[in-house]
Amino acid sequence: MGRKLSTSELLITAGSAQVIDLLCWALLDRGDWVICEEPTFQGATGTMFNHGARFLTVPCDGEGMKVELLPERIERIRAAGEPIKFIYTIVNFHNPLGCDLSLQRRARLLEIARTYGILILEDDPYGWVRFEGEDIPSLFSMDDSGLVVFSSTFSKILAPGTRVAWCAGRDEIIRKMTVLKENVDTCTSVLAQAIVWEYCRLGYLDAFLPRIIDHYRKKRDGMETALKKHLSPDRVSWQKPGGGFFYWLTVPEIPAVQLLEKALEKKVAFVPGNAFYPTGSGGLNNFRMCFTFASTEMTDLGVRYIGEAIREFEQEPGHKKS
Ligand SMILES: Cc1ncc(COP(=O)(O)O)c(C=O)c1O
Repeated sequence: MGRKLSTSELLITAGSAQVIDLLCWALLDRGDWVICEEPTFQGATGTMFNHGARFLTVPCDGEGMKVELLPERIERIRAAGEPIKFIYTIVNFHNPLGCDLSLQRRARLLEIARTYGILILEDDPYGWVRFEGEDIPSLFSMDDSGLVVFSSTFSKILAPGTRVAWCAGRDEIIRKMTVLKENVDTCTSVLAQAIVWEYCRLGYLDAFLPRIIDHYRKKRDGMETALKKHLSPDRVSWQKPGGGFFYWLTVPEIPAVQLLEKALEKKVAFVPGNAFYPTGSGGLNNFRMCFTFASTEMTDLGVRYIGEAIREFEQEPGHKKS
């Protein structure tokens, strides 16, 4: 997170999914706009959608959100007299893209948020799971205007079933979210919090983190090896993630949804890219693969089957090669 907090700036939540929900309760009226990356985590936009959000989306490249596109888009919505309530961004090892928002873009994003007075929700569940390179400062630590709500979770570094996460922001917004949380679930399970607290207090998390990072790094390397071995670079492209859980693949010639049908026949599953496009337009030739669960052997087999599914798809009558 990168800076010291007072308790009035901190709220413990039932997963970081609840941070998104509470911020929506605090800020959103039906029809309000939320700015987000496209693609983005469908669990977040699903929650925002439940609160009646409309999405102003910004495309990404290898350095995350193309923040330079923001001012023109914000001004267009503002000119129509419509409210933009917050910017949602996944800064480290993006879900589903696997990339980081670069330091330069973080600085520019804060500048834009300040210029237009728009709050940022910095969702960072994966930043702890870095395989190489240096940590990039959080938006929260770089901000001195109180415009950033930072969110993280024990889900990816301890266990998702703990349902213990936290968020930090200026006390006025945290107070509002705390009052709303009382109406939702009173408080985060005290038993779960006590277990996580003891685990951390006894130093187990500090000891576990390097091990889990190493474990996931090996799985990432296993998937990288399998991709290089079984998929032709003429047909599939990807960027090796430096941390987190995900690979994002591009198959320019093939609709990912149809590829999934073929892959499922071979008992291999992935998430087709369109699931991550809240406006419903995009990701048709992309899919996301998670490398953290399957063994390296199963990953190799699964990627081999995807390679076979691609070749079968290309051999079908009617498939046009460009
Ligand atoms: C970007 C992002 N934010 C939030 C969450 C939710 O995490 P939690 O288990 O803490 O609710 C996830 C889970 O996959 C995620 O990928």
